[in-house]
Amino acid sequence: MMHPLEELRDAALAEIAGAPNEQALEAARVRYLGKSGSISAWSEQMKTLSKEERPVVGKLLNQSRTAVAAALEQASEKLRAASESGALAEIDISLPGTPNELGALHPLTQMLDRAIGLFRRMGFALAEGPDVEDEWHCFDALNTAPDHPARNEADTFYLPDGRLLRTHTSTVQIRTMESAGPPIRVIAPGAAFRRDEVDATHSAQFHQIEGLYVDEGVSVADLKGTLEYFLRELFGSDTAVRFRPHYFPFTEPSFEIDVKSKALKSGEKWIEVAGCGMVHPAVFEEVNRARHDAAYDPEKWTGFAFGLGMDRLAMILFDIPDIRFFAQNDLRFLRQFAS
Ligand code: PHE
Repeated sequence: MMHPLEELRDAALAEIAGAPNEQALEAARVRYLGKSGSISAWSEQMKTLSKEERPVVGKLLNQSRTAVAAALEQASEKLRAASESGALAEIDISLPGTPNELGALHPLTQMLDRAIGLFRRMGFALAEGPDVEDEWHCFDALNTAPDHPARNEADTFYLPDGRLLRTHTSTVQIRTMESAGPPIRVIAPGAAFRRDEVDATHSAQFHQIEGLYVDEGVSVADLKGTLEYFLRELFGSDTAVRFRPHYFPFTEPSFEIDVKSKALKSGEKWIEVAGCGMVHPAVFEEVNRARHDAAYDPEKWTGFAFGLGMDRLAMILFDIPDIRFFAQNDLRFLRQFAS
């Protein structure tokens, strides 16, 4: 005959084996092994048993408890594993993953990379200078008179200590010649700052690519050839390039460059893209004074310099109607240049 404890144990094991979920398992645990569970109740009954019966039933009680507890543990583990593999079954591992969105270069950076690539091919090296400059590098060394309007507080951002935000990248012409003798062939892309009224074509901060080429026998023909090649590579071979006489204190003769191309949105209109000219002998002489030598002898060396409006070039190239778009960081604008 089976002891009632054995019957309880078997009933518990059967119930556990058939439990469909964690709640059913927990209910079985409470019913059999809980504080007032039917197996637990037997430890109370022990007191009422005879000396002979007690060890036998005690042993049976321990075995039943252990067996039921182990079965509960196992069943719960099995349910957990089943629910996990069920969740996995809903995942189709043959589907393509969610791609990470790739970033893209800012249109001005793309423009810059193209320009640098073209000038590199012509043997130009990269040079740079600080955005915060002194008046000497920005004006005096560039043959710009003390009363020149560009030096006006209304046109230029001055710092309290008298320094300023460079109004053009021509400062790098001077810095390059201070630190190295001729021949020189550099471009210097960077920011420039002017107190302009901000509108679709003017910004307080814009970007230029300065160029400087100093060697023996450099002529206006070299200047024209270099810039025409650059602009036609950039805008297409049927681009017309016009050199219009102009005035800059640091070049003589000086020109402004306009381009026109049917391939561009601007069509038949001439658009100004650069200032340029032959380096003024007074600039060489001022550089010599700063260097305390005669490295840039104007009788021996000649050179050309240019300043290309980088924002302007990018606006023409990418058909961008407003210079302010470059700085607004509107993703609807920037995404159009992600390829
Ligand atoms: N620095 C001039 C400007 O910002 C452009 C320029 C550069 C002109 C070099 C001549 C030579 O307008």
